[in-house]
Parts: sequence; C-alpha cells; structure tokens
Amino acid sequence: MRQLIRGRVLDFHADPADTEDNHRYLEDGAILIEDGVIRATGDYADLREDGLTEIDHRPYLILPGFIDPHIHFPQVQVIASWGAQLLDWLNTYTFPEEARFADPAHAQAMAGRFLDLLTAHGTTSAVAFCSVHPESAEALFAASDARNMAMIAGKVMMDRNAIAAVQDTAQQGYDDSKRLLEKWHGRGRQRYAITPRFAITSSPEQMHAAGTLAAEHPDCHVQTHMSENLDEIALTKQLYPTARDYLDVYEKYGLLSENLLLGHCVHLQPREIKRMAETGSRAVFCPTSNLFLGSGLFDAEGLRAAGITSGIATDVGGGTSYSMLQTLNEGYKVMQLRGQKLTSLAAFHWATRGNAIALGMDDQIGTLAKGSDADLVVLNASATPAMALRMERAQTLAEELFILQIMGDDRAVAQTYVAGRPMKGDGA
Ligand code: GUN
Ligand code: ZN
Repeated sequence: MRQLIRGRVLDFHADPADTEDNHRYLEDGAILIEDGVIRATGDYADLREDGLTEIDHRPYLILPGFIDPHIHFPQVQVIASWGAQLLDWLNTYTFPEEARFADPAHAQAMAGRFLDLLTAHGTTSAVAFCSVHPESAEALFAASDARNMAMIAGKVMMDRNAIAAVQDTAQQGYDDSKRLLEKWHGRGRQRYAITPRFAITSSPEQMHAAGTLAAEHPDCHVQTHMSENLDEIALTKQLYPTARDYLDVYEKYGLLSENLLLGHCVHLQPREIKRMAETGSRAVFCPTSNLFLGSGLFDAEGLRAAGITSGIATDVGGGTSYSMLQTLNEGYKVMQLRGQKLTSLAAFHWATRGNAIALGMDDQIGTLAKGSDADLVVLNASATPAMALRMERAQTLAEELFILQIMGDDRAVAQTYVAGRPMKGDGA
C-alpha cells in the first residue's frame, strides 16, 4: 500500500553539536510510504499524486519515531516505587515483580501493554531487558513481531545475588539465550541482545558464557549496566577483586565492542573512559532513572569529548516516564547541573538519529531518508493549555522543539507510525 503523510517534516543528517548543517525542515513536507518503507521525503508539492491516499497532519511536526535504547519490559509495574537507591530498589521491588514473568500468560498480557505504552509515547524502537525467564522474551518478541516493531531484546542472564525465582545458572542462561537468539534474531524486525544483567548478578562462569555467546554471534548487541551507583561499584569490586575497575569485568570476558550498550556510566574512571572510546563501547544516559534512584549526574559532554558515543534512554522502571520528551527534559536538567547545555535540536537529534547511531542502525531507523523504515512520530507542541499558551510566544522551530522537550509527554504525540501503520487512537 502506498500513502503520503503530510505535515511539517523534520529529520537530521548530522549532530547539531558538530555542525550547523544538521537538519532538514520542510514547512509543507510529505513522506511517501510503500510497504512500510520510506520511498521519498520532500516537499508536498513535489510528491503529491492523483489517487494517492493522503493523511494531513499539518500543522503538526513529523519526525522519525523515537528510539529508547535502554528499558526494562518486566518493570511496567515497578515504575514509581518509593524511597530506595539501586541495590535496595532491585531487591525490594524489582526482583519480586520480575519473578511474576515466569508465567507466560502474565508476560503476554504485559507485553501488549508495554508496546502500547511505547507507541503512545512516540517510541517506535527499543532495546529492552526482559526477565530471566525465556517466557518473558518470547512474549515480548511475539508481540513486537505482530506489530512489526523494530525491537532489540534479550532475557537477562543472572545466576547469583537475587531471589531464586529470578535466577538461572551459567549453563541455563547460555542455553536459553542461545535458543531465543536462534529463533528471534533477524526474524522480521526483531534482533536479539545478549543480556548479562550486571556484574553483581552474574558469576564469573556466567560472564564467561555471555562472552562465548557474544563471540559466537558478533552481529548481536550486548546490553548490561555499569557504574550506576557507588554501592554497586563497591560491591562489584568485592565480587571481582582482580578486575582493574568495573569495565574490566566486561573487558575480561571479551564484551567490549561497538555492539556493547552500557547503561548508566555515571561514575567512570579515566581508564574506563579511555577503553570505552578505544573499543567503541556505547554509554547510555538514563536521566530520569539517575535522578529518581539518586545515582548521580552523567557527564554527557565529557564522554563526548573523549570520543564515546552515547545514547539517551528512559530506563523504565528505574526511570519515571516512558516519554522520550520527558527523558530529554530531565537530561537537559542533569546537564545544567553539570554546567552543560543541551539545545533542542541536539536533543531531538539524540532521541532519533543519535540513538540509531549508538545502535549502529542509522541506515534503517532514526531518519526519514529514502529506503529507511517508515517509523514516525507526529508531535503537537500546543497539546495542553499550558503548552498552547507558551507556544503563542514561540517564533522559531528551535523554540517549538524546546517547548516539546520540556513540557511534552504522550499528550503531545498526535500519532505514531510503525512501518507505515498508525498506532494511536482513531487512526490506529
Ligand atoms: N542494574 C541492574 N539491574 C538494573 C535495573 O533493573 N535497573 C537499573 N536502573 N539498574 C540496574
Ligand atoms: Zn536498566
């Protein structure tokens, strides 16, 4: 099916922090979609054809769908759990809740709710941690495949320092991950991420198994957590006494590469920064989570200056919103506290093409370039009375984007398209 989506079109071809020639903005633009793929993006006047199905979203903005490169699927009912920092929060709220995902019916029900929430907030692709149970990853992949969403996910490997109901063993973690990977990696838009949860919950034997799996499947992402919280770092040092630092645990097992996504990276040592840059390992900034759990202030500009590519993500349920707009809002504030600036153009680049680059997928998602997947978000900067009032005084695109970044959430998402299909409200 061919269709033309019309509106004020914006996408990025470079990082606004690097160069002034960074985006394309079409005041009366359009995106020609066929079979879930973008065939052309340009001025409406050039793309219109007699008889072509048209959807007119003017005066709203149309951007590539948001990408959330770090989120926990089994934490949909953990989000907003009170009063704890990381290790307490995991033990008190998170592990017991994740235990419920051993039940395939629960996992299935939650997978649908989770994906509905993502698209309601304009997120079209995510990198998701599932629970330890293969059933949770099965449920998420099946639901994502049915929606034709580009999903990167994996079951967590965790064989110690947690309640028994969320533990596997080194061998079982390897076997279950391998089976899921062989079934789902490359099936439609699904990709498998090898997912040792973090050093504290994986024994050396399990880290070795994760390294073996990563060596056997060099085209898979590997996702984990690192240097989020000071108590976590101290316990990791105790558990891996010969490691030079936290990164060295992952380095010893051969996990450092451009496919490695390291959630948080709040308290890095100089050697870790140097090695991450040398190996292309990615950092993922999770501002709402880092503030909520009191973890610390990510050094976005410092890591960038060191040559590290960073993504920006929600980290629900440590994170407090599914909205990438709210994530950019809190990211802006974390950077303010560090004396750093996040412009609105850089922010929207980060949530789209920037995150796609962090995933090595910028030829498919995070862009409106011809040949890429037709994942779109339609944004209304006047969605609430307060936003509309503020918008009366906005004069530039950058100002409009900043209002969306600071005040926006799912109410500002007028529509979300996944591979050309509308996912919200009456349009869905
Ligand atoms: N470190 C290990 N597991 C988790 C988790 O589920 N959330 C966060 N924020 N940090 C973690
Ligand atoms: Zn996380």
